[in-house]
Amino acid sequence: MTADKPIGVFDSGIGGLTVARQLRRALPHEDLVYLGDTARVPYGTKSPATVIRFAREDTQFLLRQGVKAVVVACNTASAWALPALEQGFQLPVFGVILPGVRAALRRTRAGRIGVIGTTATIRSQAYSRGLLSRSDTVSVLAKACPLLVPLVEEGWMRHPVTLAVLREYLRPLRRRRIDTLILGCTHYPLLKPALRAVLGPGVALVDSAESCARYVRERLAHLGLLSARRRSGALHSFVTDEPERFAERARQFLGGVVEPARKVELAPWTGGVR
Ligand code: DGL
Repeated sequence: MTADKPIGVFDSGIGGLTVARQLRRALPHEDLVYLGDTARVPYGTKSPATVIRFAREDTQFLLRQGVKAVVVACNTASAWALPALEQGFQLPVFGVILPGVRAALRRTRAGRIGVIGTTATIRSQAYSRGLLSRSDTVSVLAKACPLLVPLVEEGWMRHPVTLAVLREYLRPLRRRRIDTLILGCTHYPLLKPALRAVLGPGVALVDSAESCARYVRERLAHLGLLSARRRSGALHSFVTDEPERFAERARQFLGGVVEPARKVELAPWTGGVR
């Protein structure tokens, strides 16, 4: 039965496990197949054409694993490649941008919304456009924060250096007195305590992983694709580089034990797989 097939999730690397974590929370009975393209991470510094090519190859791989839907956990890939994936593959594809946009519009009071993400995500203006096309009253200030991914990968979630970097990046957003901040990158949910410390309690933090998981649940229900099984879902992970390095750090992103990942080679996108 299609509804009992797993949900595919891909990211440029390990960060998408923050989305897998929220999916497990929102959909505890669903099996997940996770692909981290660890050989080619980061996507956030790459050109749109490259990100789209990688995203197609990632989706093609997941499709070949027999998934019923694909979640693009990577904000950069969601920002640039979602239309290409929706066009190129005949299965439901969900990104993180739209759910984040909707959550931010629900949360904002004063209508001043900040967005942070990788250089490529901010360059795409995907969040800004999404927000401004759905509301006439909000103003958006987007800021690329390229140093944050390496700091999180280093495990420096509350390190003074990270706090100093955050203060610097967030200065223009604080000056504009944003009341809502979209965390537009897979790694940023791990920075919530540090963001809180810098921004204070008055700014709502929109975790795009959390809003994405709720959105996926809503859409799968609508499509009649929720599994009726009642056992706990499994998580099978694949990576494109050494599984050992993934295993070392995966726990922190997933918030739980991760079974060893398998290394795979991704085939070039043929354009023929549906
Ligand atoms: N996963 C990416 C994102 O959410 C961050 C890491 C990268 O640059 O690949 O944009």
